Amino acid sequence: MDSILVTGNGPLSGDIPIAGAKNACLTLMPATLLSEEPLTLTNAPRLSDIRTMTVLLQSLGAEVTALQDGKVLAMSSHGLTTQRADYDIVRKMRASILVLGPLLARFGHAEVSLPGGCAIGARPVDLHLKAMEALGAEMDLRDGYVHAKAPAGGLRGGIIEFPFASVGATENALLAATLAKGTTEIRNAAREPEIVDLAQCLRKMGAQIEGEGSSTITIQGVERLGGATHRVVTDRIELGTYMLAPAVCGGEVTCLGGTISLVESFCEKLDAAGISVEETEKGLTVARRTDRVKAVNVTTEPFPGFPTDLQAQMMALLCTADGSSVLEEKIFENRFMHAPELTRMGARIDVHGGTATVHGVERLKGAPVMATDLRASVSLILAGLAAEGETVVSRVYHLDRGYENVEDKLSAVGAKIERIQGQ
Ligand code: EPZ
Repeated sequence: MDSILVTGNGPLSGDIPIAGAKNACLTLMPATLLSEEPLTLTNAPRLSDIRTMTVLLQSLGAEVTALQDGKVLAMSSHGLTTQRADYDIVRKMRASILVLGPLLARFGHAEVSLPGGCAIGARPVDLHLKAMEALGAEMDLRDGYVHAKAPAGGLRGGIIEFPFASVGATENALLAATLAKGTTEIRNAAREPEIVDLAQCLRKMGAQIEGEGSSTITIQGVERLGGATHRVVTDRIELGTYMLAPAVCGGEVTCLGGTISLVESFCEKLDAAGISVEETEKGLTVARRTDRVKAVNVTTEPFPGFPTDLQAQMMALLCTADGSSVLEEKIFENRFMHAPELTRMGARIDVHGGTATVHGVERLKGAPVMATDLRASVSLILAGLAAEGETVVSRVYHLDRGYENVEDKLSAVGAKIERIQGQ
């Protein structure tokens, strides 16, 4: 397994390109299952999760061709051979459950392995299943698979009311409702930019959708969907992650293609910490002009609140803040696994359940640390960028799921970082 070696190397300066959003691409790709016509995605990120979704769609008989070094995905589902998504692929990535809605809507049945939990939590899919039932489907759970069956005439429009704004369940419901007969209303829908991006792509395919980005999305089902070409929205989590590099190290970095609208609540916290963010036509220019950032409190919430996917990275910044910060993780039940690793670098963090209190120290010290999940891994790299001495982050396969060429992007702005090939 590869590792990443980071050495504290002072202020950063330059531009970092931001890729297309992993979490948009992972819900856009299953949309190809809804139509016989080709669906082409541009600005796709080159990530292992995208390759996993590619293998899953190909296992169903879809054609997925990566062009332009993987930045373009040309897909077609005119010749699907099965509606069964096998455990050996689904277990690798939770987002695999997003093939359920499209398969059920277009073919009237689907067998999808339950994804299982992951490091950050149990992550059940009960809301996905309830959404399909609200559209008339029968869901039978047996031998680790969801056996879903639509009514004889196909899915029927209905009211889907979520107890909380689940991103994936909203995406599955939206995908399925495009072909359900009649009107579907999704209440307490998630409002993430990735859902807005999905709705815009489905609309290009002929879907009739209103209200995406708000808490209520209304869909008029159509007979069939056509093809489309769609550009994947900029990755707001990669954007926020790299905005923290100059915040942690000092200096000034422009994240190309970034806009405030993608990371508004995150920018409010950076401002409170004393970090300046300016939107230009190139992207977001971030600078730290003080010796130490100020302590700030953070609570993760569904969009437009502070993103849970930036909590670990923000914690890395606050480890050296002037004062104590309280971070509340409200979305996942176990998303502080980066805390003990940061503590190995000299951070002072008290974790009690879903709350972590970070007492800022002057400077962290490099140490060997271990990545436990995707966002924790990049949090450790951020901490290593400003720490005294060398930090070696192991198990970086987690990192490669969600960040393309981290070492190249950070080296280009002056960071001392390299990948060590695993034994
Ligand atoms: C999406 O996961 C993202 N993944 C996650 O990003 C992100 O952290 C999360 O949304 C929240 O923003 C993708 O888009 C591929 P949820 P998802 O359904 O859809 C519980 C990353 O780092 N829940 O909003 O799984 C669930 O256990 C990843 O890129 C149920 O209880 O998130 C969690 O505690 C990590 N039942 C909470 O809701 C359900 O049926 C939020 O889950 C579904 C979810």
